[in-house]
Amino acid sequence: MIIANQQNINTKKHYSISNDISKISNIFNREINISIWKRNLNSNILHASEILLIKNSDLQFSELINKNFSIDFLIDKIGADEKLISFYEDIQYLTKLFCELFDIKDAWLRIDAIDKPMCPRFHADHLKCRLVTTYYGPGTQWLPNNLVNRNKLGHGNNGLADDISGLFSKKSDIENLDVGDIGLLKGEAWVNNEGLGLVHRSPHTDSNYKRLYVTIDFGDLYRRSIFNNNY
Ligand SMILES: [Fe+2]
Repeated sequence: MIIANQQNINTKKHYSISNDISKISNIFNREINISIWKRNLNSNILHASEILLIKNSDLQFSELINKNFSIDFLIDKIGADEKLISFYEDIQYLTKLFCELFDIKDAWLRIDAIDKPMCPRFHADHLKCRLVTTYYGPGTQWLPNNLVNRNKLGHGNNGLADDISGLFSKKSDIENLDVGDIGLLKGEAWVNNEGLGLVHRSPHTDSNYKRLYVTIDFGDLYRRSIFNNNY
């Protein structure tokens, strides 16, 4: 099933996908567990992402930041190359967008570069909501809620791989975020969303890949993570 590039909200299928940024607030609909704003990155940001991957292929940036932070902070922490400025400005924009959407003062920003594929299992996170976006490489994979057999998550897989455990019926059930897409992934800790957190995983491919991606979380998740590594 290919549902990318549609403009829709489908409460039965629990997802919202739109080219219209205002529709990202559909995440507040009780039935929705992923809200995607589809957007195209401009060439400056794409170029900046490539430069960053070349310069720092194992970048792992993680900071609690105020919603009005200056890009000087990123310049100081990551690098002063002027070709990176458009990337920093986009991060600044997304952080503010996330904080204003949820009316919070700070957020946990992570910027990660990897130069080898990860192969995690499908899972739902115990958090309220996470913004995920990929600047380079394959994007996050997710399963529409109506196509998931949640009994097969975690120990329910009986030691079987996700593609044969019965977690989903067929490979084409798996959806992918594209480069530039802004995904709001609702988790198990969102009020009244227990048992409905978005089921997702890092990109899973047969070949090596490089990837640059960003996640933005509620600041309280960062504060809890200092004392508890279960997130
Ligand atoms: Fe996750």
